[in-house]
Amino acid sequence: MRLKVITSNSGKVNEYREALSSFSITADPVKIQYDEIQSSDPEEIVRKGMDHLKASGISDFIIDDSGMFVDSLNGFPGVYSAYVQETIGNAGILKLMENVSDRKAVFLCCIGCNISGKDIMVTGKCDGVILEKEAGAEGFGYDPIFSHDGKRSLAEMPLSEKNNISHRGNAVKLLVKEIEKMIR
Ligand code: IMP
Repeated sequence: MRLKVITSNSGKVNEYREALSSFSITADPVKIQYDEIQSSDPEEIVRKGMDHLKASGISDFIIDDSGMFVDSLNGFPGVYSAYVQETIGNAGILKLMENVSDRKAVFLCCIGCNISGKDIMVTGKCDGVILEKEAGAEGFGYDPIFSHDGKRSLAEMPLSEKNNISHRGNAVKLLVKEIEKMIR
């Protein structure tokens, strides 16, 4: 099976390639600009994105919407994760977290997948904490400041190890279960 991974984020492409290959699904990266609506609900953002792509005649694809939600910041940056990463970045989040003892955070990844005209939507999560400082050079985005085990950041893990525990890796496992049900 082949699925188009519609994103301009090469980090996501690498993760989907690795995660899906274990299930004999080939990920073909495709860059298509589509409008993302503003919403506090990642599933609504993905649903609208899928509708837009299907209306343009595109099928057999994956899109995702991801975000990092920090407990002590009342879920910020959450659905604003992309904007916050582009503006204040990891250094800005660390600044906001100075002297904050509750460092719990969660990463969510909502995947929308269309296969042969049928839609699947799943959400994977990864619990963790915001580290005191950036660490590691792997991955992308918030990986250097987010740790699942409180010791190593996601950016200190090889891609396959990140996929094993990450929000996106967990979402892919849920997606594959749904695909298996669909083709059974
Ligand atoms: P989006 O899903 O592309 O909208 O991602 C929102 C923001 O979260 C972007 O700034 C991404 O770089 C960041 N992000 C998404 N997934 C990850 C991840 O797996 N690790 C670190 N940052 C991520």
